[in-house]
Amino acid sequence: MKYYIGIDLGTSSVKLLLVDGEGNIRNTISKEYEVFYPHSGWSEQNAADWWYAICEAMPELLSDIDGQSVMGIGVAGQMHGLVVLDENDAIIRPTILWNDGRTEKETAYLNEVVGKEKLFEYTGNIAFAGFTAPKIMWMRENEPENFRKISKIMLPKDYINYLLSGVHATDYSDASGMLLLDVRNKCWSREMLDICGISEKQLPKLYESFEVIGAIKGEIADKFGINKYAILIAGAGDNAAAAVGTGTVGAGRCNISLGTSGTIFVSSDSFSGNADQAIHSFCHSDGAYHLMGCILSAASCNKWFCDGILNDTDYEKEESSVSEKKLGKNEVFFLPYLMGERSPINDTNATGMFIGLRPYTARSDMYQAVLEGVAFVIKDNLEIIRNFGVDVKSSCLCGGGAKSELWRKILANVLGIELNIPMTEQGPGYGSAILAMVGAGEFESVKQAAERFFEVKETVKPDEELVKLYSQRYAKYRKIYPAVKELYKEIKE
Ligand code: XUL
Repeated sequence: MKYYIGIDLGTSSVKLLLVDGEGNIRNTISKEYEVFYPHSGWSEQNAADWWYAICEAMPELLSDIDGQSVMGIGVAGQMHGLVVLDENDAIIRPTILWNDGRTEKETAYLNEVVGKEKLFEYTGNIAFAGFTAPKIMWMRENEPENFRKISKIMLPKDYINYLLSGVHATDYSDASGMLLLDVRNKCWSREMLDICGISEKQLPKLYESFEVIGAIKGEIADKFGINKYAILIAGAGDNAAAAVGTGTVGAGRCNISLGTSGTIFVSSDSFSGNADQAIHSFCHSDGAYHLMGCILSAASCNKWFCDGILNDTDYEKEESSVSEKKLGKNEVFFLPYLMGERSPINDTNATGMFIGLRPYTARSDMYQAVLEGVAFVIKDNLEIIRNFGVDVKSSCLCGGGAKSELWRKILANVLGIELNIPMTEQGPGYGSAILAMVGAGEFESVKQAAERFFEVKETVKPDEELVKLYSQRYAKYRKIYPAVKELYKEIKE
């Protein structure tokens, strides 16, 4: 039997999947690592922690098979993170993550002085604080010594690929989120490199996600006990890989992911977008394009509320305390902006907030509000995607949050669409293993491979009455952010 490894380099953990040539998941190992918040609204990680976690997980992953039958590896990763290497390929500073909001000034300069229209012309996108280009500009301004040392700029999964193979490479889907790529024409944007004060030499070489970038280095193959001819593909941004794992390829298909972030991803045959909407227009890992709305805090809100506030990691118990009768009737609202927000409000000052508390408010009402708040913000994004003329009637749902029956039900009824739950919620890891199979020549196209392996386990259908109730709640929820938008700025630390 041939095997492929899919690695999902997430924000709270790395997940390794061992997939056989028939697409069956044979083993899954996950290892957690820390996120550091050195200032309010900032978030960083040590790239060395990712590698340590992968090295720890690999022997456990391969414990029951002969590693010589591993034919290929695909890595998917958290997007937009700034990993900077010096001339010896040593890490210069901790990685600034996708949900870091420190670049308010640089983002405002890009959107307001360079201008959204120009940015859209150069890259197909506007600027968001979490994107890579504003982070490079922040480094130039605030850490000039570090900036001068930069020899290579990489994204998180590209750094792992470099450690595996010694090759500096990236793929179009992940590179799309740097605001350095001309997404329409799939090449680096000269104008954006000039604005950031960097050169093409400092950037990795561009590949399609399923293209082979090289072989696993001999010493690494020996260390992991895998076949030294195993191929390594360029891999993909986690959302573009998750889309493959959930069959979201070809025109007009939708996938929603409830991970640390929440995303709504619509695949497309051609490039589309505009400068007025805070929706991303990126390359897909199948060689085509996609639209995506990204919210910065999704399952992380659930984790924050349970682990951080209630001091209880029994999510099932928390979930079962919410009464069916309360669905669509909760008086409490929650704005899930724990890390500011990307789509659609693009506001680094926004923070999380409960409203509607009474002396009789129960813990379960607040928990329900957390899950509902995330669903409402996903709906904000769905409505914008619909304005692009995409008729979304159903979607796949993946990510850790997809395991919650209650959350699935709330989401299906808030959005008013059917949600298809795939056999595995591990979208990015499964997708990157499928991409590796394509790279190894097992399939002619990503579409063919995704269609061969994607299976729906269960469909959650919306209920007409509940959809009505939730649309009334949503209309109220929509009034909260505009009312506090200015206040957020005033009370900012
Ligand atoms: C997408 C985004 C997040 C990260 C999280 O634009 O920023 O989904 O990729 O892993």
